[in-house]
Amino acid sequence: MKIAVLPGDGIGPEIVAQAVRVLRALELKVELEEALVGGAAYEAHGHPLPEATLKLAQAADAVLFGAVGAWKYDQLERALRPEQAILGLRKHLGLFANLRPAVCYEQLTHASSLKPELVAGLDILIIRELTGDIYFGQPRGRRQAPDGAFAGADEAFDTMRYSRPEIERIARVAFEAARKRRGKVTSVDKANVLETFQLWKDVVTEVHRGYSDVVLDHMYVDNAAMQLVRAPKSFDVIVTGNLFGDILSDEAAMLTGSIGMLPSAALDARQKGLYEPIHGSAPDIAGKDIANPLATILSMAMMLRFTLDQPESADRVEAAVRHVLQQGLRTADIWSEGMRKVGTRAMGDAVVAAITKTTTKS
Ligand code: IPM
Ligand code: MG
Repeated sequence: MKIAVLPGDGIGPEIVAQAVRVLRALELKVELEEALVGGAAYEAHGHPLPEATLKLAQAADAVLFGAVGAWKYDQLERALRPEQAILGLRKHLGLFANLRPAVCYEQLTHASSLKPELVAGLDILIIRELTGDIYFGQPRGRRQAPDGAFAGADEAFDTMRYSRPEIERIARVAFEAARKRRGKVTSVDKANVLETFQLWKDVVTEVHRGYSDVVLDHMYVDNAAMQLVRAPKSFDVIVTGNLFGDILSDEAAMLTGSIGMLPSAALDARQKGLYEPIHGSAPDIAGKDIANPLATILSMAMMLRFTLDQPESADRVEAAVRHVLQQGLRTADIWSEGMRKVGTRAMGDAVVAAITKTTTKS
């Protein structure tokens, strides 16, 4: 098995380094190859997703990704901005199914901005469609408004679109996932206003006919945003489009205490995947050894489970993370009174130690 390791920018290199140490501690037969991506690749090669990096990602069985982006690149033309690297990887690798679990660890119930009783035991799975929608729809651009009250003025436009097969395949991923969980799918749309999401709702309803053991309900995205903070535990699997999924997954992340805890997987039709924390590159804290590496370590665990077919190793990593939280170790983002504040590297050390312990036991 070959894994492409793409640390990226900001805190990316620090957190990925810890995930790689944990992976090595498992002593599996995997080959790792690192490459530049995002701003780091732009600096070195003039492009955020150089040909060599894309080739490596295409040839690998899985990609472990850190984060990309920094304010200093905001003035670059869009095609050269770091974000294009992750968007390009998703599109080129056909990674249409984004799994973003939001799990509230028992030890972190009090780190959430919501009342503990609302989030205790929270375990929801957001499935975000990742290669369509307004993110990739054409045409898009800027022009002089051709007509209307503001004719002649500068205007910008993007195209929201979904085709039936794109909706069908993501709906199937959601129903299959729900079967292995609590058997409920909430499809989030804006069918009351948008044609794109009327088709979405119709197609999800059709696909559901093949999954009568799963309960399906539909919710408008504004209501879903509200229900996520009102009664988050009423959800099991949420399936939605690219844009709504981007927004709702950040919201769901905060329910769990910190966005620094949440992993994600982006899968293609054959379970090949790119694994990344859902947080960004956090340039303000880069290089300070304070970022939380757990989301990346947990993303690596998802890689073991979904692509490398090593469920026991995945369990071990997740158990090790629970163990260090149980020990009271906390990075700054999840720290609270009475807990031991540790840096990025020390948190990695603790997870490696917890892994090694279970190795000797078994
Ligand atoms: C995410 C991020 C990306 C997105 C950005 C970095 C392009 O916010 O993975 O959620 O919008 O998809
Ligand atoms: Mg996002």
